[in-house]
Amino acid sequence: MPKKIVAGNWKMNKTLEEANILASEVKAMVEDEVKGDTLVILCTPSLFLLPIKNILGNNSRIFVGAQNCSEHESGAYTGEISAGMLKSVNVPYVILGHSERRQYFGENGALLAKKVDIALKHNLTPIFCCGEPLDVRESNGHETLVKQQVAESLFHLDAPALQKVVIAYEPVWAIGTGKTASAQQAQDMHAVIRKHIASKYGQDVADSISILYGGSVNDGNAKELFACPDVDGGLVGGASLKSREFTEIAKSI
Ligand code: PGA
Repeated sequence: MPKKIVAGNWKMNKTLEEANILASEVKAMVEDEVKGDTLVILCTPSLFLLPIKNILGNNSRIFVGAQNCSEHESGAYTGEISAGMLKSVNVPYVILGHSERRQYFGENGALLAKKVDIALKHNLTPIFCCGEPLDVRESNGHETLVKQQVAESLFHLDAPALQKVVIAYEPVWAIGTGKTASAQQAQDMHAVIRKHIASKYGQDVADSISILYGGSVNDGNAKELFACPDVDGGLVGGASLKSREFTEIAKSI
């Protein structure tokens, strides 16, 4: 069974003080209200990972995650943060290949394969993002592109390594636009991704991997999206910046 996961992607938002308040509120609400074994991950700006990790304490349900890491081990890469550094402060998760990184920072499949490798080498769990832009969806190329993104950056892994990866399907046209994929569109693509993994690694491996949906998830649409058989949770941007709404989303699994 894949793990049920709701991850918040705070992107480049909040001051330290605001971040501390948000994390404290989410922690209290999630502890009180989220039942079952849903994992909650707060992907904060790197600068806030440690203070927020301290706020969360030794919680077995809520964890911090980074939003990116370098493909390099260490060295003269000004401004970068390595997987080893994240591990050294016990950050367990890292988002890789978010569409904003692909679009604004030129990240491609080959680079992301390196980032996935180095994250796994340091025992971080990558939350690997894939998803098509609007023009590709409109020309009906979405399944081909997403399968290619997954294969390019993940299919060099052996099965045990792949099983450590969380996949997030985030159609670019639904990110930050208020335009969510319908539950049917999400389910269809998640099923395509799972089948693609099954064709290479077998059904058991495919069935064990968490595939999250991302793109304008909110407290009004989460329930329907998470009810889809192949949707194992969500990667939430804008709505993760509000503690009440994010908690309601985490409760919707
Ligand atoms: P959104 O962002 O929920 O604001 O659409 C999702 C994401 O970018 O991960």
